[in-house]
Amino acid sequence: MTNHLPECYFLYFVIFFFFVIIILCLLAERDHGEVLILGSDKNWFEAQEYCRTNHTDLVSSSILKDCNGGYIFIGLFRATWSWSDGSSFYFRLWDEEYYNTDKKLHNCSKLTENGRWSTDDCGEERPFICYQGKYHVILINKNRTWEEALYYCRHHHHDLVTITNLDEQRWVQEKTKNATTPYVWTGLRYTCTLGFWFWVSDEVVRYKNWASPDQVNECDMSGAMETGGEHKWVKINDEEKFNFFCSTT
Ligand SMILES: *[C@@H]1O[C@H](CO)[C@@H](O)[C@H](O)[C@H]1NC(C)=O
Ligand SMILES: *[C@@H]1O[C@H](CO)[C@@H](O)[C@H](O)[C@H]1NC(C)=O
Ligand SMILES: *[C@@H]1O[C@H](CO)[C@@H](O)[C@H](O)[C@H]1NC(C)=O
Ligand SMILES: *[C@@H]1O[C@H](CO)[C@@H](O)[C@H](O)[C@H]1NC(C)=O
Repeated sequence: MTNHLPECYFLYFVIFFFFVIIILCLLAERDHGEVLILGSDKNWFEAQEYCRTNHTDLVSSSILKDCNGGYIFIGLFRATWSWSDGSSFYFRLWDEEYYNTDKKLHNCSKLTENGRWSTDDCGEERPFICYQGKYHVILINKNRTWEEALYYCRHHHHDLVTITNLDEQRWVQEKTKNATTPYVWTGLRYTCTLGFWFWVSDEVVRYKNWASPDQVNECDMSGAMETGGEHKWVKINDEEKFNFFCSTT
């Protein structure tokens, strides 16, 4: 009997530990409007895929400053160290061991017990933290005209997707993996009367990712994303039937 006790204490400790981390992260979350989700053991690439499919991405940026530690994968990854979600956040909190030569070979990163960061073997299985941004994007595997897609999203979810920067482009293009059509409708629409492109969410089209920017605009055109290749945007007649992206709140 007695030799079971230490295991029990260890279990309590682990549960308590995760509880503390979740609380700390939730407190941090209030500042950023992003929800954090703790996932159980996966290697770094599986963790990234899990976060991108079910949420937005592995945790990054300033949220991390407020999270205390415990060998949990975070989104920092290198060729040169960069964030999984593409965010440009230059703050780093490496622990002293980072400067050990053998550790420098590792390409992934984790939080450590003291809340600092350490490099890690990407193949190691660890808990991880995902975050979910304000908008979540889902792919709808139905073939619809652009207008049918718009009504579908507005009725069942929030709207057709809007992409305003490179980070959002990356999250959305990640979801094309499961598309069954060569293009996927987005919330891009051309107004013939006024002669410009706009997002159905009323956002102005500032960030652009057109495959052929010089393609002539015609009436009844809407914007879709390429399923393969570089996932650029194309201008297509809105009667074509494709899968589409809805945003949910
Ligand atoms: C998304 O979440 C579900 C339920 O937790 C899980 O079964 C699935 O494997 C996840 N997707 C990925 C790509 O990990
Ligand atoms: C880390 O990445 C570099 C290239 O960026 C690669 O050559 C090396 O094999 C990777 N190391 C591991 C342990 O995967
Ligand atoms: C891909 O699509 C299939 C069929 O629509 C669905 O069952 C599966 O969950 C999707 N997988 C991901 C990773 O979204
Ligand atoms: C949608 O169209 C594609 C071909 O364009 C086809 O392969 C796919 O099966 C269709 N999906 C549905 C749900 O009808």
